[in-house]
Amino acid sequence: MTGDIDRILITQDQIRQRIIELARQITADHSPPAVPRDGGLTLVPILTGAMIFAADLIRQMPVRMKIGLLAISSYPGSSVQTQGSQMLWQQIGDVRGRHVLLLDDILDSGGTLRLVRQRLMALAPASVKTCVLLRKPTDGARQTPVDYVGFDIPDEFVVGYGLDHNNDYRNLPDIVTLKRSIIG
Ligand code: IMP
Ligand code: MG
Repeated sequence: MTGDIDRILITQDQIRQRIIELARQITADHSPPAVPRDGGLTLVPILTGAMIFAADLIRQMPVRMKIGLLAISSYPGSSVQTQGSQMLWQQIGDVRGRHVLLLDDILDSGGTLRLVRQRLMALAPASVKTCVLLRKPTDGARQTPVDYVGFDIPDEFVVGYGLDHNNDYRNLPDIVTLKRSIIG
């Protein structure tokens, strides 16, 4: 598996450090008096890609929170370009009147966040904010405002730390690019 790596873009140490900063900022924004006591926070990682990011981020956030889950497919199989986002499954819970923070691994075309935000708004939350670990410099990303961004990266296909190619490589601890022979 590691033989398929072209180069390391972001190391696990850089990720760990940035997550501490993000968690500090998000915690401050979601603690009283920044947020009214009544609302309550629900974090919603977009599966499967945001799984590892969410696990690391929430353990740095000393805030009362509930977790909702939903799964989206946008890069079915071995495709390296979005085929349009589709909600596969959800278990978000009751978020009426609550503050929702959506977590995703990467912002590319923005299709995923647009779809999920639209579905969530129908559940009448008090607010919906968004946080992505990575952001690519695409037109779609520029047209999709997000509240928190971990790293801006070049427009390359990356895997590791939850991100996949054909559902492989999610367990790589660093964020890396793959050899051309692998992504075709
Ligand atoms: P968007 O809907 O085009 O913004 O893409 C967001 C989703 O596509 C992310 O949640 C990822 O699952 C997937 N994705 C986008 N770029 C990459 C990449 O470089 N590597 C792996 N997955 C990606
Ligand atoms: Mg994803």
